[in-house]
Amino acid sequence: MQSECRVARTSVLLASFSLLLLATGVSSAEQSGLSNYSFPDEFMFGVASAAFQIEGGWNAGGKGEGMWDTYLHKHPQFTVDHSNGDIAADSYHKYKQDVIMVKSLGVQYYRLSISWPRILPHGTANYISKDGVRYYRALFDELIKANITPVVTLFHWDMPTVFMDLGGWTNPKVVDYFVDYARVAFELFGDVVKIWTTMNELHIHCYQGYGLDVFVPAMNLRGIAEYLCSHNMLLGHARAYHLYDKEFRPHQKGKIGVTLDAFFAEPKDSNKQEDVEAAERYLQMRLGLYAHPIYSESGNYPDLVRERIANISRQQGFSRSRLPEFTPEEVEMVKGTSDFFGLNHYTTYQMSPSEMEEDWQVPSMDHDVGVKMAPDPSWPIPGCSWLAVYPPGFRKLLNWITDNYGTKIPIVVTENGVCDGGELNDYTRVSYFNNYLNQMLLAMNEDGCNVQGYFAWTLMDDFEWSDGYTVKFGLFHVDFKSPKRTRTPKLSAINFHEIAVTRRVNFDFIKIPSYKYNAFYRID
Ligand SMILES: *[C@@H]1O[C@H](CO)[C@@H](O)[C@H](O)[C@H]1NC(C)=O
Ligand SMILES: *[C@@H]1O[C@H](CO)[C@@H](O)[C@H](O)[C@H]1NC(C)=O
Repeated sequence: MQSECRVARTSVLLASFSLLLLATGVSSAEQSGLSNYSFPDEFMFGVASAAFQIEGGWNAGGKGEGMWDTYLHKHPQFTVDHSNGDIAADSYHKYKQDVIMVKSLGVQYYRLSISWPRILPHGTANYISKDGVRYYRALFDELIKANITPVVTLFHWDMPTVFMDLGGWTNPKVVDYFVDYARVAFELFGDVVKIWTTMNELHIHCYQGYGLDVFVPAMNLRGIAEYLCSHNMLLGHARAYHLYDKEFRPHQKGKIGVTLDAFFAEPKDSNKQEDVEAAERYLQMRLGLYAHPIYSESGNYPDLVRERIANISRQQGFSRSRLPEFTPEEVEMVKGTSDFFGLNHYTTYQMSPSEMEEDWQVPSMDHDVGVKMAPDPSWPIPGCSWLAVYPPGFRKLLNWITDNYGTKIPIVVTENGVCDGGELNDYTRVSYFNNYLNQMLLAMNEDGCNVQGYFAWTLMDDFEWSDGYTVKFGLFHVDFKSPKRTRTPKLSAINFHEIAVTRRVNFDFIKIPSYKYNAFYRID
């Protein structure tokens, strides 16, 4: 549970609510009534998932091995609960149920990813799996029959193992193979898939998996590998964009973009100039590193990022910056390569400058960024240690993006959500979505941010990478003990349906403790 001091504070704010509310970890003053603004009719409401996190069927129909398959089979202790993605939510067999669930939420869009090794079991495009193609074709057909538009990510972290063995994204030649895969996907599915994202969360993937050993491929080559990975992913993204733009868009007439991730960063003490600079530096080095090359007018990495990493590299005795350089041609090639600003957002941290922290190494991205980060102690942390609930941070991040990159490219929030203990009566999640969506409405209506879509993370409880199945983000509960992987809607699913259908947040639609929750259907 929360610290004593938090509970004391909460009970003052919410004196009229029962203990049940305290138990949910909600500590900000509760809103009531309807949001003052509503979502336009054409606003895209959807729900998101990712292939490796739900599909299972890890070797079904001749699927090749992805790097998470191989790594977790070899190192079962890598995940908190020693689990893997072999079965996951079994969506490989239950995709029809998944479509029913998406439909039941009243949304018109479903963001999912294609597993690269399911389509190309050898990783390379010289052999295409008929079974892999059949699976995605059936899933897309089912969605379109249900009047749901698929929004499809090509790379949501499940790289074929053969390319992991070749160094993954640190190897620039892997980019060529990614572009081959993109071509196959556009050729196979571009008739029905009209919204693509090339890649998901370049920063988290490179930082956690290449710089650190928190995610596969667990390279732990700090200060070098995460920048090589980022650089090559940006080039791969841009080349896939141009391939689509030149060869497929003219007749397929779709859109293509990329998904970046960002926590918001606030100064720990807004009266201290050094804290204000630390927060801005964090945002430039963690989001600007990826967004500036794509969305700014000048292109390339932000000046601050290039100079800082070059300076620190020089001081460390490197003969050149550990951050690779784009050639002038590459700067032009990467610039403008996204039809929308795909954004994943979960939480906010407060920043102050730091030269060194206990868990850093030299060199490393952490040391290069040079900020100590912690959430404000009053923000609730309902599930995962890294995720503090601070809805105003979402509005501020949308404003930061708008200030830096303008309003011409629409923002599509491709993920936002919260983890909790997994209960069906998930008022924490209801409150999180209500408050974050309300902040987004304020950003759209009072600040002029051009937000055109929102996808909740996630459709159902899933495999959450190194947290295995211990962390729950789903609108639907999945019974991982049952071979049927029975799905049951949580309270948050009912609330999300209300928002998607009425196009408004109603803070009174579900109120704890008066609301009596009964699961009204299950999907076996
Ligand atoms: C709507 O606006 C009124 C007046 O500014 C404010 O008191 C109220 O809290 C707002 N409602 C929500 C849900 O933000
Ligand atoms: C890099 O070093 C130069 C020369 O020491 C200094 O003027 C500049 O402010 C530094 N830039 C950054 C971003 O640290």
